[in-house]
This record gives sequence, structure tokens and C-alpha cells, in this order.
Amino acid sequence: MNFLLFLLQLLAISLPCIPIAVAELVYDIEGKELSSKGNYYILPAKHLSGGGLTTSPSGWLCLHFVLQERNTTLLGTPMRFTPLPWRRSTKEPIRLSSDIWIEFHDLDSFCATRLDWHLTDRLPQTLSGRRQLLGAGNEDGGRSFGVFRIEKNGANVTGYKLMACAKKESCNDLGLYASKDKTWLAVSDEPLMVVFVRQTSYY
Ligand SMILES: *[C@@H]1O[C@H](CO)[C@@H](O)[C@H](O)[C@H]1NC(C)=O
Ligand SMILES: *[C@@H]1O[C@H](CO)[C@@H](O)[C@H](O)[C@H]1NC(C)=O
Repeated sequence: MNFLLFLLQLLAISLPCIPIAVAELVYDIEGKELSSKGNYYILPAKHLSGGGLTTSPSGWLCLHFVLQERNTTLLGTPMRFTPLPWRRSTKEPIRLSSDIWIEFHDLDSFCATRLDWHLTDRLPQTLSGRRQLLGAGNEDGGRSFGVFRIEKNGANVTGYKLMACAKKESCNDLGLYASKDKTWLAVSDEPLMVVFVRQTSYY
């Protein structure tokens, strides 16, 4: 066979693979792949800048807010990540810049054992102004997942940032908003850099 022809055939075989090139994986603080079957704490990448992300009841039935523990020794509440499109009970790695669901998992709360993350227009009584906070769970007790992504923030920045995607390709950084008594997770111009800590590594 002509070598050029052989090369062309090889190209024809390999070309369709290019668009399928898979996104980079996300790793936990131990360097292990983030998995859809593990529970993880989300902690600030910057050491001693507060504790992990947790949940706090809003006062509207099962709606909670996502906030950061102020005590640096507290890990917060474990979470799970589900890659989209959703598939039942398959263990999958979590990839950078890919759509995921996030939920608090194995909770011991008054209304649910899992709370789905989404943006909410509700505000705690102590806050005013126009701010979009992160909610978890719903007023009607049902489930409504928002779409999120885990991203790097430049090659030299430690950790990952979280983004909330309201519509396709329209994602916003998530950062902290500190009020007098609490530190809320909210849509922000200043992303919170985070790391993921697998729950079992602490038990
Ligand atoms: C932080 O939490 C630890 C463990 O629950 C507790 O011993 C400590 O007093 C707390 N620190 C503050 C400043 O609340
Ligand atoms: C990242 O760090 C490397 C090595 O220190 C440096 O050469 C590079 O310019 C940095 N890149 C950015 C975007 O800051």
C-alpha cells in the first residue's frame, strides 16, 4: 500500500476521535479523582480562611442556604457531585468544566437527607439588597437541581472555583458574602477557591 494512502486512512480513523477528547479530571486534596460515588467536604483552598461549606435552614420550610463555617476547625456538611447527563447508579469521575449537580448528602436535617443546590432569589431576613445566594432544598420539599461547574482559575492558582450556570454557557463565579453573623455562598465577582476533602479520609 502506498504510504500516503495508509496515512490518509489512519487520519480518517483517528479524526472522529478528536471532538470526543475528554475534559481534565478534578482531584481531591489527596490527589485522587473526584467521584460521583463519594461524599466530599468543600473547604477553602487558602489555609485557615474559615471552615467548610455547610447548610443552614432559611425559615421557608425545606429551603436552606449554603454558607461557610466561620470556625476553621469545622469541615461543614458532606456533598455529592453528579455528572450530567444523569445516569442511574454508575460511578463516574467528575470532570473540569463539565455540567454537574451538587447536593448535600447523608444529612440529618429536619426535612430531608439530601438537599439539591440551586440559585435562589430568597434572602435571609438579615440581608437586604440584590444578591443571589445559593439555596439547597426547596420550599415545597421537592427537588430542583441547578447546574454547576468546577473550574480552574488560571494555571497558577491553587484549588478550584465553583460556577453556577443559569443557562447554557452562561456561568457565574461563586464566592463568599459575609454579613454580620454569617458568611453566605453567593454569585460573586471574586471566586472562592476551594479544595475537596473526601469524607472517609477523616473517619
Ligand atoms: C471551633 O470548633 C471547635 C470544635 O467544635 C471548638 O472547640 C472551638 O471552641 C470553636 N472555636 C470557636 C472560635 O468557636
Ligand atoms: C505560572 O507560573 C510559571 C512558573 O512560575 C510562570 O512561568 C508563568 O508565567 C505563570 N503563569 C501565569 C499565567 O501567571
